[in-house]
Amino acid sequence: MFSRHPITPPICLLTLASLLMSPWGLARAGDAKAGEVIATQQCAACHGADGNSIAPTFPNLAGQIEGYIADQLMKMKLGQREVPQMTAFVANLSPEDMENLGAYYAQLQAKPAAIPESDVDAAQRGERLFRGGLENMQVAACMSCHGPGGLGVPQVYPRVANQHRDYLEQQLLAYKSGERESEGNIMNDIAFKLSAQQIKDLSAYMHALK
Ligand code: HEC
Ligand code: HEC
Repeated sequence: MFSRHPITPPICLLTLASLLMSPWGLARAGDAKAGEVIATQQCAACHGADGNSIAPTFPNLAGQIEGYIADQLMKMKLGQREVPQMTAFVANLSPEDMENLGAYYAQLQAKPAAIPESDVDAAQRGERLFRGGLENMQVAACMSCHGPGGLGVPQVYPRVANQHRDYLEQQLLAYKSGERESEGNIMNDIAFKLSAQQIKDLSAYMHALK
């Protein structure tokens, strides 16, 4: 239903540049099998046995970027991102466990989602923002970092496609209010300029991005 535009050269350059400046380093090589053991015992109850969770405010982790997962777990352990439900779990994880969990979840398949009839208009408005940004507010197109299909960029930008709509909306609002911080305030500066309605529209679109 939503058209996919070819990647333009400036975006390729931007992606390449961001890869080189990656905050999470270039080489990540976790052991997915070791990650699976921890995930099955400690994470599956909330994030789903296949990395696709049931509760709409518990994020899907299937297909998420490996380095991003490890990075967020470290932030939670250091108290830089507050997730009360996870405090007890991250306390026991070593940096190696975090890499292994990232490797495990990255290779799982995200479940495709459909746009409910009631969200079609919102998703179309969201698509324009995701692909075109907001020129008058100097908001870059979301796809210039998160990719045209929202799949993220390995080691650099998280996946946003096939994520729960409620979770996406909650995170954008948390960036907007400053409750959640991001590397170099990238997402805080962007979300600050978005209205609550634009955040709803974007979340409706990203949730079912193919
Ligand atoms: C009791 C439920 C619960 C358990 C158990 C749990 N989590 Fe979470 N997790 C959450 C919730 C809720 C959030 C989202 C919090 C927020 O709104 O910021 C989250 C967020 C995350 C995120 C951030 C995802 C993103 O897209 O930014 C990662 C990564 C994560 N969890 C990994 C794990 C791992 C690995 C384990 C097992 C060691 C685990 N979680 C155990 C509830 C849980
Ligand atoms: C300049 C690059 C860049 C642009 C442009 C960008 N993002 Fe992000 N985004 C990031 C980074 C980096 C993160 C991870 C930040 C962190 O550490 O919390 C992120 C995180 C997110 C998350 C949280 C994902 C999760 O699993 O918790 C969402 C949602 C998101 N961005 C949506 C958007 C939307 C919508 C737009 C466009 C309005 C956008 N982003 C534009 C770089 C970007």
